[in-house]
Amino acid sequence: MSVMKKLVVGNWKMHGSRAFNAELIQGLLVADLATTAPNADVAVCPPFVFLADVADALQGTAIAVGTQDISAQTQGAYTGEVAGPMIREFGATYAIVGHSERRSYHGESDQLVADKAKAALAHGLVPIVCVGETLAEREANQTEAVVGRQLQAVIDTLGADIARVVVAYEPVWAIGTGKTASPAQAQAVHAGLRAQLAQATSSAADIPLLYGGSVKPDNAVELFSQPDINGGLIGGAALKAADFAAIARAA
Ligand code: 13P
Repeated sequence: MSVMKKLVVGNWKMHGSRAFNAELIQGLLVADLATTAPNADVAVCPPFVFLADVADALQGTAIAVGTQDISAQTQGAYTGEVAGPMIREFGATYAIVGHSERRSYHGESDQLVADKAKAALAHGLVPIVCVGETLAEREANQTEAVVGRQLQAVIDTLGADIARVVVAYEPVWAIGTGKTASPAQAQAVHAGLRAQLAQATSSAADIPLLYGGSVKPDNAVELFSQPDINGGLIGGAALKAADFAAIARAA
């Protein structure tokens, strides 16, 4: 387990502008991650409107591109949605699905998240499936039950294709709060997710399990050294080239 290359993904959330992004990307390219972070696969997920710009700027570099969401549908009368084939056309590799901000602000259900993961795979994208508990759920000792339920919906919907996803454990209480899960807390949840995946596929050891929630340059090394943590999904620190590069190097 965990001999795989680490995966470090920046989720820009609803931040950026064309000028800001150009500067951020310039900083990442200067950091030369292919050389300085050889043990990390790196990707960034900008807002949809910037996908074309960012994909162009990163074409031919070691940094891949993803989106923060994807429609469960392929095309049609779905105002405001963006479909897998459209995303693919811009050279994206990944699509984040089920981020807690989408689950809570947009009412996304476990099943919708699973359907989005299926749509991503159907259109040649790797879904990064986010799971995570709220503080109230953790305090009620519901962490395992909640993330288990969220993951199981995806397992049941994808069947054998569950082997093709990336899973990100993001405790809601650690997102943007500066409170990171301790490496031991994160590892415990990751080990549970790995065991659950092992019930569904013989390739569970090869499924990247990312941790997200206040990952910073100064805590990344310890988090990434846990046996079942295969990388990170980075929010705030992904908006600073130096910090994001340092986190990639921590891998
Ligand atoms: P922060 O790194 O800002 O806590 O965000 C984590 C996250 O939600 C990434 O998807």
